Amino acid sequence: MTTHSLLLLPGDGIGYEVVAELRRVIEWMDSNSSAQFSVTEDDIGGAAYDRYGTPLADETLAKAKTCDAVVMGSVGGPKWDDVERHLRPEAGLLNLRKELDLFANLRPATCRPALASASSLREELVSGLDILILRELTAGVYFGEPRGIETLDDGRRRALDTQVYFESEIERLMHVAFELAARRSSKVHSVEKANVMETGVFWREIATRVGSQYPAIELEHMYADNCAMQLVRAPKQFDVIATDNLFGDILSDCAAMLTGSLGMLPSASLGPLTDGKRAALYEPVHGSAPDIAGQGIANPLATILSFAMCLRFSFAMNAEADMLESAIDNVLANDVRTVDIATTGIEPASTSEMGSAIIAELDRLKS
Ligand code: IPM
Ligand code: MG
Repeated sequence: MTTHSLLLLPGDGIGYEVVAELRRVIEWMDSNSSAQFSVTEDDIGGAAYDRYGTPLADETLAKAKTCDAVVMGSVGGPKWDDVERHLRPEAGLLNLRKELDLFANLRPATCRPALASASSLREELVSGLDILILRELTAGVYFGEPRGIETLDDGRRRALDTQVYFESEIERLMHVAFELAARRSSKVHSVEKANVMETGVFWREIATRVGSQYPAIELEHMYADNCAMQLVRAPKQFDVIATDNLFGDILSDCAAMLTGSLGMLPSASLGPLTDGKRAALYEPVHGSAPDIAGQGIANPLATILSFAMCLRFSFAMNAEADMLESAIDNVLANDVRTVDIATTGIEPASTSEMGSAIIAELDRLKS
C-alpha cells in the first residue's frame, strides 16, 4: 500500500482547533482508503516564534521540502503585534510559500448546495456557483524590493512597497489558468489594473500571448475594481479568475463570502513540476480568527476541504476526495452547522461536533 507523508502545521488561533478535526479525517482515511498517511507535526507562525524564536524554523522548512504535502491551519494573532515584521507570524507563511516556490494558488469558491441560503447574496445569484480564483503567490508587491519605511534627508518620512513581475512569473501562472479552465468551463478572466499600473499593462500583454496558445479557451481581461464589483453583482459569469498576489488576496476573500462563509473556502498552493513531483501546501483561506479562538466554535470545513484538494492534486485519490466532499454536503444538508453558517432555527454545532458528524457520515458512505 502507498504511504503518503504529510506535514501538519496547525499554526495559531483557530488553526489548532480546525486541524484537530482534520487529524480525525486523516486517521479515518488511513484506515479506510487505498493509501496510508504518515503524519508529522510542527509549528508555524506565532507558535513557532514562541518555540523557536522564528515563525518558520529551518528544520520545519526542511520537513516541508521533503514531505509529499503540507497541510496548514492559520497564522497570526494580536499576541505578536509588536514583533518585528520579519519575525511576525505572517512572515513564516510567506517564507514557506516562497521557499517551496508555490506560485499557483487555487482558491475555489463553490457554493455547496445546502448553503445557498447562507450567502449574503440572494440565493439565485450564488446557487450552483463554481468559480476558481487562481492567485499568483510568490511575487508581486508581497515580495518586491525595495520596500520599507524611511526618513529622507529633509526629515520627511515615507513608506514604499514595490509591485514587480517578471515575464516568466506571469507566463507560468497563465499557463496554469488555461490548463485549469480546459478542465472546467473554458473561460479565463485575467484581472489587473492596466488602466493605471505598468505591471497591469505587462500582465495583459503576457496573458494575451499565452492565451493565443489555447484557442479553445475564452480569454477576457478585466480591471480588478470591476472584478470586485462583478463578483458581488453576478458571480456566475466567472469560471477561472487569474490574477496577481495582492488582487488575488482581496478578491478571494470577497468570493469566499459568496459561498456562505469565509470558513468554507479551501486552497491549494502548488509549485512547478520537478522530477515528476510538485511541492504543495493546502490551507484554508480564512485566518486565525483570534476573536473566536479557544471557544471550540470555529468551522473546520475549509481545512477539511483543503485536505480533499490534497487528496485530488497531490495523491490522485479522486474517489476519496469525492467521498469526503459528499460527506460534507450531506452533513450540511442534515443541518449540522457551525455558528458561521447556521441559519435561524438551527442550534449551532461546535468544531468537534462538526468533525464527529463528518466521520460518522464517512462511515455511513463507506458501508
Ligand atoms: C491569505 C492571507 C495571507 C496573505 C496572510 C495571512 C499573510 O490573507 O492567505 O489570503 O495575505 O496572503
Ligand atoms: Mg487573505
